[in-house]
Amino acid sequence: MSTLITLEGLDGSGKSTVCESLQSALPEVTFTREPTDSWYGDLVTESMHDDSADSLAELFLFTADHAAHLNRVIRPSLASGTAVISDRYADSRFAYQAAALADSRIDAPLEYIQSIHEPFSRRPDATVYLDIDPETGVTRAGATNKFERVQYLERVATQYERVIAAEPTRFYRVDASQSIADVKKRVKTIVGTMLGDEVSTES
Ligand code: TYD
Repeated sequence: MSTLITLEGLDGSGKSTVCESLQSALPEVTFTREPTDSWYGDLVTESMHDDSADSLAELFLFTADHAAHLNRVIRPSLASGTAVISDRYADSRFAYQAAALADSRIDAPLEYIQSIHEPFSRRPDATVYLDIDPETGVTRAGATNKFERVQYLERVATQYERVIAAEPTRFYRVDASQSIADVKKRVKTIVGTMLGDEVSTES
């Protein structure tokens, strides 16, 4: 059985740097990300950079990208026995879009978003959550798009906490305010344990 591990966290949590370092240490693993590098992902990126984008439409764009990602990358890799590590995955929707839809006509956005994933998605075997406070995240990331505002990220963090509280055994929380070297080390240990003998974690 092959393993699916996801990395989650607020903008500025150091997630992308950690993923790059994991990738060079684990050449046998399929590394991927959401939004994906595909035309579905391009549409998502276009929407993210439009401050007037409709939040509900954006949820469906992200979810469409996820559906294609599962069928084109994740399921084929897992089926061939290759472990997969994804930089962001469904939990990003559960946190970011639940926060974005908080004042919309959708009641209970988190539960709604989870319900539209449930019929087709694949739950990660483990999720590493890089825990950073929103202010530090925004300072580190720089506000390059509308998702990177502190108030919004505070609401996103609250949604992540709700998801983690509901599934505590899936999540591995890492203090991302530590030095990046310490964060990388901690994440490598967690991933190495999860992958066990699926890959060599020596490098
Ligand atoms: P990106 O530049 O890839 O940031 P990062 O390196 O932090 O992953 O932009 C991704 C942005 O999209 C980020 O702000 C989180 C947001 N996002 C969502 O709102 N919903 C989603 O489902 C995903 C995958 C990302």
